[in-house]
Amino acid sequence: MQTTSSTRTQVAIVGAGPAGLFLSHLLHRQGIESVILEHRSREEIEGTIRAGVLEQWVVDLMNDMGLGDRMMREGHFHSGITLRFDRQSHHIDMAELTGGKRVTVYAQHEVIRDLVSARLEDGGSILFGVSDVQFHDLDGKTPRVQFRRSPDGPVEELRCDFVAGCDGFHGPSRQAIPAATRTEYQIVYPFGWLGILTEAPPSHPELIYANHERGFALLSTRSPEVQRLYIQVDPKDDIANWSDDRIWSELHRRLEDESGWTLKEGPIFQKGIIAMRSFVCDPMQHGRLFIAGDAAHIVPPTGAKGLNLAVADVLVLSRAMTAYYKTGSSEGLDRYSATCLRRIWKAERFSWYMTTMLHRNEHESPFEQRVHLAELDYVVHSRAAMTALAENYVGLPME
Ligand code: FAD
Ligand code: DHB
Repeated sequence: MQTTSSTRTQVAIVGAGPAGLFLSHLLHRQGIESVILEHRSREEIEGTIRAGVLEQWVVDLMNDMGLGDRMMREGHFHSGITLRFDRQSHHIDMAELTGGKRVTVYAQHEVIRDLVSARLEDGGSILFGVSDVQFHDLDGKTPRVQFRRSPDGPVEELRCDFVAGCDGFHGPSRQAIPAATRTEYQIVYPFGWLGILTEAPPSHPELIYANHERGFALLSTRSPEVQRLYIQVDPKDDIANWSDDRIWSELHRRLEDESGWTLKEGPIFQKGIIAMRSFVCDPMQHGRLFIAGDAAHIVPPTGAKGLNLAVADVLVLSRAMTAYYKTGSSEGLDRYSATCLRRIWKAERFSWYMTTMLHRNEHESPFEQRVHLAELDYVVHSRAAMTALAENYVGLPME
């Protein structure tokens, strides 16, 4: 492509999701310059409804970085979660089992809003609405990223030392790792989640994960006035088939237990269906390109790990880049993929475990289905099993 202008930065970051934004902040704190190239508009990235649960170390990191004020005011801090099956409720006291770590519910788009405004306030460069991102010379010492600021605009070029591919599952950066050098591991689940936002008061003081013969259901929250709920559905189902009445009827049936507890209803103002997969790309590096977050791996949402894992990758990457700029050592960069993949595979295992244990899968044998129920029964009656679940849920320690 013919270019009209060429600029330089130290790290070109593609994508302003949690991975790209955290990376830009972490680098800035170490005096390393970056430019973020984001395909969508600021309004779009700040309005997309996604994950909700932050691991304890992510909350601590946001506070350390001075980015946690609104989260501490508006987030929801729970000491545990409830597992519900056979119409019985079982409280898992995460704080007691993990030495005081809590479950923090603070929506991903609120994290994005906080990170975008703080980065722009401190002079950071985020270009929204860019298109046609293309990578060049990733094998050399000065990679280049070409892009257009608008679909009809001229091609511009960003020269840099490193490229961080934080562009999510469908972005171009993973494809820039030659197919012959990467292995992709994947499971696609035969079910998805229908998620809603409703204007209703909280029905319960903590999250409820329910395994019911009609399928999985999850009760979460967003604010004293807005609740987030999910039900297991066919991933190919059309949201048009789901009237508000039908959604509430399923939620009532799947979530209610023998205690007489009831779900509080309200108007539904947002609803959609997402498919579920487990996916890992190995390695997560090619030359001076490092991929992070959903660009490199996907977890099914049942373990609430997606956003947290994206932050873990870029923390490793920022430390490796800082060491490179301060000492000239590329040891951390060379180990980036292997370091991240150790944590990623543990999160993949946990997310797969929570997903298979809590969902109904008609493609499984009756034997496998009974094993999942036995697993649930074991988890809520064994302190050892409960502790294992709790320490994974609140987040394994960062090395
Ligand atoms: P993303 O958040 O996907 O960010 C990537 C960014 O790159 C996007 O802003 C995108 O616009 C940009 N981009 C893409 N292509 C280009 C390009 N060519 N040029 C420039 N920019 C580009 N996790 C949970 O734990 N619980 C949930 O309930 C949950 N719900 C989800 C619902 C949906 C619909 C999806 C897609 C994901 C959900 N997740 C959930 C997962 C979680 O949101 C992700 O793991 C997290 O967003 C990963 O962050 P990321 O920065 O790696 O990628
Ligand atoms: C939420 C999402 C999850 O994937 C989860 O496991 C728990 C809560 C949420 O959106 O609030």
